[in-house]
Amino acid sequence: MTTIKLINAKATYPVRHSVLRKGKPIETCFFKGDMLPTTLHIGLFFNNKLSGVATLLTSQNALYTNKNQYQLRGMAILDKHQGKGFGNLIIDFTIALLKDKNCDILWCNAREVAKAFYIKNGFSTTGKPFNIEGIGKHYIMQRSL
Ligand SMILES: CC(C)(COP(=O)(O)OP(=O)(O)OC[C@H]1O[C@@H](n2cnc3c(N)ncnc32)[C@H](O)[C@@H]1OP(=O)(O)O)[C@@H](O)C(=O)NCCC(=O)NCCS
Repeated sequence: MTTIKLINAKATYPVRHSVLRKGKPIETCFFKGDMLPTTLHIGLFFNNKLSGVATLLTSQNALYTNKNQYQLRGMAILDKHQGKGFGNLIIDFTIALLKDKNCDILWCNAREVAKAFYIKNGFSTTGKPFNIEGIGKHYIMQRSL
């Protein structure tokens, strides 16, 4: 059984670490803005165990003219639970949550491997891919709400 709810920043770190920062120091899992009161951390629980996370930050990207933008960061489903629809559930939860906050655009820097996942979830790309040192090729992607 899955449930999704808001969690605190610290709870996201083990999942970020095992999925997004494998073998790197735990400090690489701390994001600027994690502790801001406007930042939202989402946790997906499968059989009461935290199995997926995502973070939403109020962050204005100059690429967009929208006034109320959020950035999606740290989207991660534990390896053993990927491909079960959990990522879709987190995006659905995110969209409902942000609509409630009058957000008009959600954007992210998407890893190349996750690009197809975001496209399935209504995102599209803007501009050319770019490299993030130590992680690889990324696309700027956005979804209007
Ligand atoms: C990317 C990620 C968040 C997707 O979550 P998930 O739970 O595995 O994805 P889902 O099972 O909800 O899949 C949703 C849809 O996207 C598709 N999809 C998921 N990952 C995909 C991939 N790598 N390539 C192509 N399609 C993919 C699925 O086929 C599915 O399509 P459907 O709805 O038509 O059946 C997850 O796989 C993950 O954590 N990956 C490693 C970390 C990562 O890359 N995070 C993103 C950082 S930008």
